Amino acid sequence: MIYAGNFKTNHTRKSTREYLMKIQLHNHKIRANGDRVMIFPPLTAIDNYEVDFTVGVQNAYPTQNGAFTGEVGVEQLDEFGIKTILIGHSERREILGESQEFVAKKFAFFKEQGFEIIYCIGEPLEVREEGSEAVIEYLMAQFEGIDTSYDNFIVAYEPIWAIGTGRSATQKEIEETHNALKKSIDKPILYGGSVKGENISEIASIDSVDGVLVGGASLKTDTFLELVFHKN
Ligand code: 13P
Repeated sequence: MIYAGNFKTNHTRKSTREYLMKIQLHNHKIRANGDRVMIFPPLTAIDNYEVDFTVGVQNAYPTQNGAFTGEVGVEQLDEFGIKTILIGHSERREILGESQEFVAKKFAFFKEQGFEIIYCIGEPLEVREEGSEAVIEYLMAQFEGIDTSYDNFIVAYEPIWAIGTGRSATQKEIEETHNALKKSIDKPILYGGSVKGENISEIASIDSVDGVLVGGASLKTDTFLELVFHKN
């Protein structure tokens, strides 16, 4: 299983360092379990950390460098050896207004750079309420312009209505959706949306769930490690 923590706009450089060092202490055991951790701190907390798990970024601009006020490009990420990025998160699509066209452009650029890409998709509540067929149709449209055959590519299915709400999708909804996606996209698929200690066993037991992308419950090492070691 992949356990990915998305800090969003939380943590500082200092608290991120402390956090990562704590996870590092457990990483041997995590690897021995056949699992993998990935952490996505805010950009100001990116550094050359001596850890042997993945530290990635939540966002970057599709450029090496240039005149894109407020953005960072590959030149800035290279300084810290960052080679992993989240693309298409619903918060960027919805709050920052990233269109499918722009998301696809980012994907193509970071693919060209050989980045590992966690590509996020997810439907709003009104689509979920229309039923599973509508959900799949909506999700498949979020692959428009995306080269799903790219090797270094992980999908994260995060229903928007389940993010930060405490209400995760049901086991049946997750299983149905992941199974349907796997018919067209032969890649690992993470589930995200209110993953926490109380529901991790149920979610992780689904065959087509290859990992989880966690917001709130990733912010403290205790609650994150509770997920990582839910079987131990
Ligand atoms: P929560 O775990 O806080 O619902 O956030 C999920 C998410 O958006 C991870 O990218």
